[in-house]
Amino acid sequence: MTRRSFLATTAVSGSLASASSATRRTHAPAMFAATGGRSYSHAELEAKIARRDFRGLTKADLPTPNLILDEEVFARNLKTMSGHCERTGFNLRAHVKVHRSPEIAKRQIEAGSIGLCCASISECEVMIGAGMHGILWTRQPAGPNTISRVVALAKRDSTFMTVVDDSIIVGQLDEAARAAGITVKVVVDNDVGIGRQGVKPGQEAVELSKRVMKAKNLKLAGLMGYSGAASHTHGWQKRKQVSEEAIGLLLESVSLCRTAGIPVEIVTGGSTGTYNIDSEIKGMTELQAGSYALMDTKYKYVGSKSGGEAYDDFGVSLTVLTTVISKHYPNKVAIDAGNKSATQPTDEVKGRPDLTVARAGAEYGALHWEQADPEPKLGDQFELITSNLDMTTNYYDRIFVCQRDQVVDVYSILGRKGPSQR
Ligand SMILES: Cc1ncc(COP(=O)(O)O)c(C=O)c1O
Repeated sequence: MTRRSFLATTAVSGSLASASSATRRTHAPAMFAATGGRSYSHAELEAKIARRDFRGLTKADLPTPNLILDEEVFARNLKTMSGHCERTGFNLRAHVKVHRSPEIAKRQIEAGSIGLCCASISECEVMIGAGMHGILWTRQPAGPNTISRVVALAKRDSTFMTVVDDSIIVGQLDEAARAAGITVKVVVDNDVGIGRQGVKPGQEAVELSKRVMKAKNLKLAGLMGYSGAASHTHGWQKRKQVSEEAIGLLLESVSLCRTAGIPVEIVTGGSTGTYNIDSEIKGMTELQAGSYALMDTKYKYVGSKSGGEAYDDFGVSLTVLTTVISKHYPNKVAIDAGNKSATQPTDEVKGRPDLTVARAGAEYGALHWEQADPEPKLGDQFELITSNLDMTTNYYDRIFVCQRDQVVDVYSILGRKGPSQR
């Protein structure tokens, strides 16, 4: 095994296994840097990660910008969601689009998620490759590339499912499945309000479901209807109304299908914003929430059931660690997280409401303040709460898992390079 392939393997499977076996080794003595952290060289840090030797490694030792996962908040979020699903008898099939990390996915499954939803075929490949089952691809294959990859995944794992919204794709997928000698499980997607994919709920859904039933090498697993409009609607009551309307359309399709003698097992949709709304709707069997595990500022203020403006059902566990790299002007410093870190003016500085975030350039961001206590100093580290998880995690290969300031693990973000990139 080459060193490169060894590192790649341990990045995926090493942290899935216990880190304990690697922690016996000692790390080379390191100098203290001006910021208070140790100055590990790139090679030393990579070697520590490859050995899963995190002893003495703190946030202050890390190069920035980098992703940090607050283990305590993350674990609490998983528990909150699984507790809710357990109490309400609702199945969670967590969406991995916000992180694309097999280690996080594994933690979600350990916490009770019955499988995973994926946004791209490469995410499906990454998750099945990491040993996960019960994957639902929430977009339909189109074109020979994705159709053949869907068939390959279904051949590898019979629990894999893909969405369809068009009889042309149903025909092509059936043919490809027949050629491979397998059956592919499909879910008929309903457009319940976004206008980007899915059949019109009602008779169109029935017709496509019938078409699937006729296809010899496809099996209808259920119906889907995801309302992105509902998920971020501000105010819980208003969100409830939008979600109930959207899910109502989906349930109408379900009812018409059943009346027509079409068995519908899975009825899936919903999001972090509607988890405690959709679980109360009779007929929904599954929730596709994803952001709940990590959270971002887009969700932070959509309002909770208790009536507050804050949506504090789940805490922010993912942040971008950044360093102050220049201080020459009053009320402002430059930081090393800019456009290439997806930094946005709507980001927040964790624990520092007196600071605001501005986007400055590719590798530069800025923090501003009217009155800061204390004022940021050159070399200080701050953690940014990202505005959009999907966009932020898309820039990074790994996440440093921390208990307070101590690094305790490193989780990988996959599907970013090689054939799995798209
Ligand atoms: C099809 C689908 N299902 C579920 C989700 C999960 O939403 P959230 O991260 O808001 O929980 C998304 C998010 O965009 C989605 O596109």
